[in-house]
Amino acid sequence: MSPPLDAVRQYLQDHADRNVGDLCEFLKIPSISADSKYRGDVRRAAEWVRDQLAACGCDVELVETAGHPIVFGSICQQPNAPTVLVYGHYDVQPPDPLDKWQTPPFEPDIRDGHVYARGATDDKGQMLTHVKSVQAWKNAVGDLPVNVKFVIEGEEEVGSNNLEIFLEEQRDRCSCDIAVVSDTAQYGPGIPAITYGLRGIVACEVTLTGPRQDLHSGVFGGSIANPVNALCSLIGKLVDDEGLIQIPGFYDDVLPLTDEERQAFDELPFNEQDYLGNLGMSAVFGETGYTTLERRWARPTCDVNGIIGGYTGEGPKTIVPSFATAKISCRLVPNQDAEQVVQSLEQFLRDNCLPGLELSFTSWHGCEAVLCDTSSSHMAAAQAAIETAFGKAPVMIREGGSIPVVATFKKVLNVDTLLLGWGQNTDNLHSPNEKFSLEAFHQGTLASACLWHELVQHHSL
Ligand code: BES
Ligand code: ZN
Repeated sequence: MSPPLDAVRQYLQDHADRNVGDLCEFLKIPSISADSKYRGDVRRAAEWVRDQLAACGCDVELVETAGHPIVFGSICQQPNAPTVLVYGHYDVQPPDPLDKWQTPPFEPDIRDGHVYARGATDDKGQMLTHVKSVQAWKNAVGDLPVNVKFVIEGEEEVGSNNLEIFLEEQRDRCSCDIAVVSDTAQYGPGIPAITYGLRGIVACEVTLTGPRQDLHSGVFGGSIANPVNALCSLIGKLVDDEGLIQIPGFYDDVLPLTDEERQAFDELPFNEQDYLGNLGMSAVFGETGYTTLERRWARPTCDVNGIIGGYTGEGPKTIVPSFATAKISCRLVPNQDAEQVVQSLEQFLRDNCLPGLELSFTSWHGCEAVLCDTSSSHMAAAQAAIETAFGKAPVMIREGGSIPVVATFKKVLNVDTLLLGWGQNTDNLHSPNEKFSLEAFHQGTLASACLWHELVQHHSL
């Protein structure tokens, strides 16, 4: 390692406990963006991030939006070095169901080498690694080898509605050579990874409305369409028993996997029995002709997320319900157009709806899938940084989840994103007992510190 990096490593070792203490302080703030009762706490979390960045020597500002504020910070003192934009979010998911937590979600508890709290991995702990690495460079060396900008938002868990507006309005201020996001996971315990692809998503809701009120199913049943039966039949037509989505044209633009990529996926360690055991399932199911990793990372899906309708209380109630609703989401893969998928999904539902029912359809904002260049010098820098910090070269993976901002960075700022996840998919994100390994927190912080160094090394190659 180079002398400055040695000093940074030493500083991080000496300040490991303080960094964990700061993370716990951050995790105590219940910054639940979805619930307006917590508005004040969400702002308190933004202010906490602002103060941390200011303490690292960043110029920093809370930028007001129509929703929660965005923290924008920058430390740009190297006119000839690359500029990195770090994105993260300080908001968290609601902690419900509360009775499933072993310790309260906003009272961080350290046990078995992990910190347990809502937001531990998603995304407070992961995001803080980059703040702490900047602080280490600043305090141990005096300045950073690269320019770093931070965009830390408070609305990721509710759809990032104001982020694109912010990036478009402040395009120049956000200009950079590469973006860095730590909001994914390692491939598995002891297997660090870089994620070079994410699926996109579209989400919608369909309601079938029948009679103006619930009816006696003996008196009227059989003479008109039952909205709940009709909805189940409709959603039953979406995917066949081979896992193939039946919406006409759905696969037209899908970018097929290359032989090389399939082989690379096959070379990753994967034990189907362990996978199923973790999920409490006895068999896999999915599109015929694809492996589990291929299905999760590189094939599109159509999932019903929930259905509402009819009588769901105790005991029987013999009615023809007046309406039924389903929430549906599709995960998208590269080259699929979110807008077009929404349109063909709506058309399919309308074409297959039984007569006499009124169908209403709403869709929310979606995002397209992303694939990042794996042969860039930035990618090589990230690989080297992770190898130094984790003692092992990262595997290259794709992920099935979605991070809408990555496509926005490409569109608005014309940059790729390095998705450097320090967490594990088993960290219970969005679930009770969310956790983050303290070892991963420290390794991630060191990897971030090494990344600033490696980006300069690879920049001049
Ligand atoms: N960090 C996740 C996405 C993720 C998880 C990517 C694991 C890769 C591996 C993110 O916070 C998330 O939950 N995103 C949502 C996006 C949606 C609400 C637009 C998702 O994927 O459902
Ligand atoms: Zn999340």
